[in-house]
Amino acid sequence: SVKPQTPETIIVEVREKVGLITLNRPKNLNALNRQLSVETMDALRAFDRDPQIGAIVITGSLRAFAAGADIEEMAEKNFTEFYMDDFLGEWDGMSKISKPVIAAVGGYALGGGCELAMMCDFIIAAEDAQFGQPEIKLGILPGIGGTQRLTRSVGKALAMDLCLTGRNISAQEAKDAGLVARVVPKEELLQVALEAAHTIAGYNAPAVKMAKAAVNAALETTLGEGLRQERLYFQASFATEGQKEGMNAFVKKRAPVFRNR
Ligand code: CAA
Repeated sequence: SVKPQTPETIIVEVREKVGLITLNRPKNLNALNRQLSVETMDALRAFDRDPQIGAIVITGSLRAFAAGADIEEMAEKNFTEFYMDDFLGEWDGMSKISKPVIAAVGGYALGGGCELAMMCDFIIAAEDAQFGQPEIKLGILPGIGGTQRLTRSVGKALAMDLCLTGRNISAQEAKDAGLVARVVPKEELLQVALEAAHTIAGYNAPAVKMAKAAVNAALETTLGEGLRQERLYFQASFATEGQKEGMNAFVKKRAPVFRNR
């Protein structure tokens, strides 16, 4: 059998029921090269399969969550190479991760870094975080969802502004625009993200998975179809042990204890 290799571009840790992935190419401000993309997706899939894990946090350093795709790696590539290697295609696997993934963003989240943060389920940002899609300055455009997820998240006006001018916005602007869920002091960033992940990991795991899928349906389908999916998930949640536990605990005025499934 093939032995899984120890990742070199990320640090993978387990904190109780939370899987923590720290992007770790500090010299390149965590630029997303192919190795980092593959290692991050492998770690995400391993956590998604692991019944002991209830939620996942992705973070970088306080200087940079990630400053984009690796420009040095890309500079001399041509269309045929990208096309035949499905360049950036690794990241399509993000949409198959069924457990909640929180992005804890400090410093720069630019280009592919902003796109990675947006592929996560929600973003908690340090006060000094900066978001942007500066690809236009390099003569290119976003390639892992920047034009699509940013537009859905903040609307056309700001998405056009960021993608066309290449300017950055602050964490607070990003929060005001709906890109970021919470802004926290940078000393507290990881702690707050881990606490949110621990909270999620303590709930009824099937209900958590259904809630994520139902919210995502809002972006993928019509309102009527999304409402139908939500209703079925809601009804299905009554087939889980955790629903009985959660409601019995409420009625008996005690704290619920959810199992993993
Ligand atoms: N790729 C490769 N290396 C990068 C990088 C990137 N995206 N971003 C930064 N680095 C490297 C720098 O080259 C530098 O390396 P050296 O020390 O060997 O010179 C190191 O990281 C530190 O960066 P700076 O010295 O530039 O640090 P700074 O504090 O002066 O500036 C910054 C920080 C404003 C983020 C600046 O590094 C920058 O503009 N980076 C590029 C941002 C960018 O254009 N991102 C989009 C990439 S394209 C993309 O992402 C396509 C897509 O949609 C998938």
